Amino acid sequence: MDHTYDIADTRAYLARMRDMLNVRMADDSHRLNHSLGVARTASELASTYGVDPFLAEAAGLIHDWDKVLTHEELLARAVQYNVSVAGSPSDAIALLHGPVAAVELPQLFGELPSCVFQAVARHTAGAVDMTDLDMVVFVADAIEPMRHGAYADELRALVGKVDLEHLFFSCFSQGISYVISTGRYLYPTAIDIYNHYALSLAHRKGTV
Ligand SMILES: [Fe+2]
Ligand SMILES: [Fe+2]
Repeated sequence: MDHTYDIADTRAYLARMRDMLNVRMADDSHRLNHSLGVARTASELASTYGVDPFLAEAAGLIHDWDKVLTHEELLARAVQYNVSVAGSPSDAIALLHGPVAAVELPQLFGELPSCVFQAVARHTAGAVDMTDLDMVVFVADAIEPMRHGAYADELRALVGKVDLEHLFFSCFSQGISYVISTGRYLYPTAIDIYNHYALSLAHRKGTV
């Protein structure tokens, strides 16, 4: 996964990305503010956990780029791009805006390394081999300042107190608990991801 880039003025590049995001989300200030919040939070998490803050902020800005699309558009593009989903794509519409955007964004932001687009792809469903950047963006999506409630507060309290994998696992497992408690469809790979990180943390703690 490529993390290298040749962008001399990262502040100017981020400003251009924000300008493009403003146009993309002109009709939805809530989504725009969420994206700006995820970008800021991802940058802060990146500084805390030794990840490149520029790449984290860039990924945060564009993580919901394709959330402005309709369900029909997302489904059509997922089929067109051969986006691989477990189970039926129509059961996973809420997750498609990540991987669909990851196919399209390199054409708009070709100066960014591929790790940014992977983080965008993985912010919805996660993966068993999350990179640090993937985890930073995933967690930032859940704890940006506009997210309210005990769930977000508990995660915020962990920042800097536990390592990044632990923080991601707390975020991911709380997400699964929410999906189950509200009787929603659980994406099939969620169990594999949960178990992978549950075992990883247990091994590190020496409880397995
Ligand atoms: Fe999203
Ligand atoms: Fe989001």
